[in-house]
Amino acid sequence: MTVPPRHPFYLDCDTGIDDALALAYLLAAPTARVAGIGTVSGNVSAAVGARNTLDLLQLAGHAHIPVALGAHDPQAGSFGGGAPWVHGDNGIGGVSLAPAVAELAPETAAEMLVRLAHEHPGTLRVLAIGPLTNIAEALRLEPALPQLVEEITIMGGAAFAPGNITPVAEANIHNDPEAAAEVLAASWNVTLVPLDATMASVLEEHHRQELLSSSAPVPRALGEMLGYYFRFYEGIFGRPCSAMHDPLAAALAVGAVKATVAPVVRAAVDTSSGPGRGQTICDLRGVHMGYPEQPGARCRVVLEVEGDFAAHLVETLLTFSESTTAALGLAGSAA
Ligand code: BDR
Ligand code: CA
Repeated sequence: MTVPPRHPFYLDCDTGIDDALALAYLLAAPTARVAGIGTVSGNVSAAVGARNTLDLLQLAGHAHIPVALGAHDPQAGSFGGGAPWVHGDNGIGGVSLAPAVAELAPETAAEMLVRLAHEHPGTLRVLAIGPLTNIAEALRLEPALPQLVEEITIMGGAAFAPGNITPVAEANIHNDPEAAAEVLAASWNVTLVPLDATMASVLEEHHRQELLSSSAPVPRALGEMLGYYFRFYEGIFGRPCSAMHDPLAAALAVGAVKATVAPVVRAAVDTSSGPGRGQTICDLRGVHMGYPEQPGARCRVVLEVEGDFAAHLVETLLTFSESTTAALGLAGSAA
């Protein structure tokens, strides 16, 4: 039997309930190997996000994966305090995890990304599921980054769909529009996973119950966190459930889920101070002609995906087993 190769990944995140699910998904994905993680302020501060990430890694038996602290403030202005009404005061829905023993890596998130890109030239995949401050900083540190990285997948933006932080802007892009503009303008092929796709990928209460009934601590902790997330999304969908933004981007990045509608178009970010600030302006005028090729376009905008993503996500997360974590002496560490 041939074992599929594992792609090295750099994950940039603002952990965050759906970030926690994306991280767990990536750890469980048979074709991914997480080489390093950087955090950025978004749902919580970069420091709180790093703490959550370290704690989750320990719970999952992956405490060896290095975590680097990234930018606290966006390029313009300062960190606005996060989104406790969505993710809870601690970013993971009030769930308390056993504090990690591991410490932060002795480098910034941007430095880690540049280092990993040099260590894995042409094969490193970047998954960015928070504001793009660290990625823009890495581009400035190493202008050849787009040539060194195999591909970058970004959860962010809203193409045809409305925004979730303003009528036209999505949170990750709105939290640092200047950085997002730089990242989209760089000469790499970007896969953008906007709200168009993620708001249609919904986890229901029966999925949450499946996670809660696992004998392993990671799915159980995620199920508990989702209780908080579901309460926020009840105000949007009218029932306890939630969109799966970051996990969907992770599944697309590892290739486990395929996009069914994903035109490659020109894309820019509004960095003005007007009502459009943070909007991702994707040139989708080809919609009526099956999206003809656009010269110079590099941004693949995922509008629709195949299959039942929620079922795939839960099935993957349930592969965390009691025996793995117990063998590592970590069972029961979700309080
Ligand atoms: C994005 O913003 C954050 O709240 C989520 O973690 C996700 O990355 C959705 O707009
Ligand atoms: Ca996120």
